[in-house]
Amino acid sequence: MQLVHTIQDLRSALRPFNSPAFVPTMGNLHEGHLDLVRTAQPLGDVTVSSIFVNRLQFAPHEDFDTYPRTLQADCDRLEQAGCDIVFAPAEKELYPEPQGYKIQPPADLADILEGHFRPGFFIGVCTVVMKLFQCVFSEAKGPRHALFGKKDYQQQMVIRRMVQQFGMPVEIIAGETQRAADGLALSSRNGYLSEAERAEAVQLSLALRALARDALAATGAMPEQLEGLEARAMRALAMRGWQPDYLTVRRRADLQLPKAADALTPQSLVVLGAARLGRTRLIDNFEV
Ligand code: PAF
Repeated sequence: MQLVHTIQDLRSALRPFNSPAFVPTMGNLHEGHLDLVRTAQPLGDVTVSSIFVNRLQFAPHEDFDTYPRTLQADCDRLEQAGCDIVFAPAEKELYPEPQGYKIQPPADLADILEGHFRPGFFIGVCTVVMKLFQCVFSEAKGPRHALFGKKDYQQQMVIRRMVQQFGMPVEIIAGETQRAADGLALSSRNGYLSEAERAEAVQLSLALRALARDALAATGAMPEQLEGLEARAMRALAMRGWQPDYLTVRRRADLQLPKAADALTPQSLVVLGAARLGRTRLIDNFEV
């Protein structure tokens, strides 16, 4: 496996290949990332991963400075998972000057849920993903794939739509969320949890599963009924000491609230949630 730090070295390393399969990450890798790397391998003739903590997608009060940087351990894991090239640029390499041009994703998809609670987050994500795609795919002549985890459900939808609207020749593949034995979704931020918080953390996924069950049981549920169920789910978590941002039932197609006319079938819905436990903000979701 080759580790490169500059765009020029990345392009040289990629020159002999036609079809990169790319897994962008911010490092501190877990089984969710490695699963994406393994899924990527048969999709192209070279498997590339990037490790870059992207300042642009963090608000000033968020954890950019403390986000774990674990390059050596990450490279060891990527090598074992079969990655061929790791691109780990310094900040000045990707942002040699302040990034004036940014990708503004559409409000209907990107200003709700995560985008509502983390304003500017998807601008930062789309901008860096566009830049990384330019670095990784510019020499490619064959099919290009990029893989994102479904744990960041809205993120993979926002990126999928960006690629579609810009007509980029990249196929977006979504990987299933990987979970710990108790059901907690794997996340780089789980490492922030204290022992007691770690034991409690699975309650977010349990609350989402219960919300999905309740929503489906309320057959023909009107949006107001769903809002009642969502409010109850948030209250239940709050009573356990969480600070929920949202627990909500949405249409899979566009992440909007189901309308009265929508048939509530499991295949059409996703439940999504975000909540803070102590100083750690966790997100999770289930396709119902
Ligand atoms: O999901 C992540 O780790 C990041 O948002 C991504 C896609 C690597 C962009 O920085």
